Amino acid sequence: MSWQDDIEKIKEEFARASKKGPDGFSKQEIESLRVSFLGKKGKLRALYSIMGRLSVEEKKQLGKELNALKSGVESFISQALSRASSKTGLKFDPTLPSDVLSGRRHILSRVQDRIVSIFESMGFALFYGPEIEREYNNFTGLNIDISHPSRDAFDTFYIDMDSPDDGLGKYLLRSHTSPMQVRIMKEFSPPLAAIVPGRVYRPDAVDASHSFMFHQIEGFYVDKKARFGQLKGVLLEFARRFFEKDVAIRFRPHYFPFTEPSSEVDISCLLCGGKGCSACKQSGWIEVLGCGMIHPNVFKPLGEAYEGVRGFAFGMGVERLCMLKYGIPDIRLFYNNEIGFLNQF
Ligand code: PHE
Repeated sequence: MSWQDDIEKIKEEFARASKKGPDGFSKQEIESLRVSFLGKKGKLRALYSIMGRLSVEEKKQLGKELNALKSGVESFISQALSRASSKTGLKFDPTLPSDVLSGRRHILSRVQDRIVSIFESMGFALFYGPEIEREYNNFTGLNIDISHPSRDAFDTFYIDMDSPDDGLGKYLLRSHTSPMQVRIMKEFSPPLAAIVPGRVYRPDAVDASHSFMFHQIEGFYVDKKARFGQLKGVLLEFARRFFEKDVAIRFRPHYFPFTEPSSEVDISCLLCGGKGCSACKQSGWIEVLGCGMIHPNVFKPLGEAYEGVRGFAFGMGVERLCMLKYGIPDIRLFYNNEIGFLNQF
């Protein structure tokens, strides 16, 4: 029998042995396939050993045939091996979907959604706005002039970036969510009721109750018939539903440049119910938000649609409300990703 016949025979044998295709083999079967064709006593090895007896020309031919056969067998084996490994889970594939659900939404996100949904149920429409703002929207459009001393209360991170010459001023990180009043009113005509959650930034030193980034929720309503009494009703309804308690609220006169009159709103202390304790510094009340009737100067640049309208607005801090509701003592707990803390909610 010539070596050409041997090659043909081995090819047929391999074709028969690999008929199941690369998917059909266990690891053991692959190994015995490998041994029988490529091993030390394998079918191919026998042919290498006759090389020495052939002419140069035939050696070349046989070499070519053998190499092709060998690499065919090898590639089949490596394919079959990788299929077999993935079947037994030995090959790590981080993109495979897991059947174990782990993790949960952050408590702040859940509280923010809860607050938003209370206002949505009262008819407020949800909006989001950019964290990178312009001086005009953050200040000027809200009746806070560039030189206005009250701007210190909204101490601000300015962004060192050229701004277009469009009268909107410098870029900054918004220091409150109130600029969304300006943006939304510019785009829509009254009547209008909007609720806007989002991140805000102030260069405050970080301590138990301050952070350079926190979350606010802005709400406002603009209509010819808007009144302070409605604002009170909306906020009382919100406080009772959010805290799931029959809390009382009180309005203290305050000052914001973009509302007149302005108030800070307190709720009766959740811990002592108003009798006085260390959480409320013996006052029985805890401050939760700022609000007021939208200042006429805010409507002025907005044109005809806003002539003769009235509106109320309020802004609250999500961290603060969340800390009150769950008795969380330190704002930094929200941000340092301690699993033990996050798992409690
Ligand atoms: N923007 C104010 C703040 O950050 C809160 C506020 C919003 C007050 C709307 C009145 C009306 O303190």
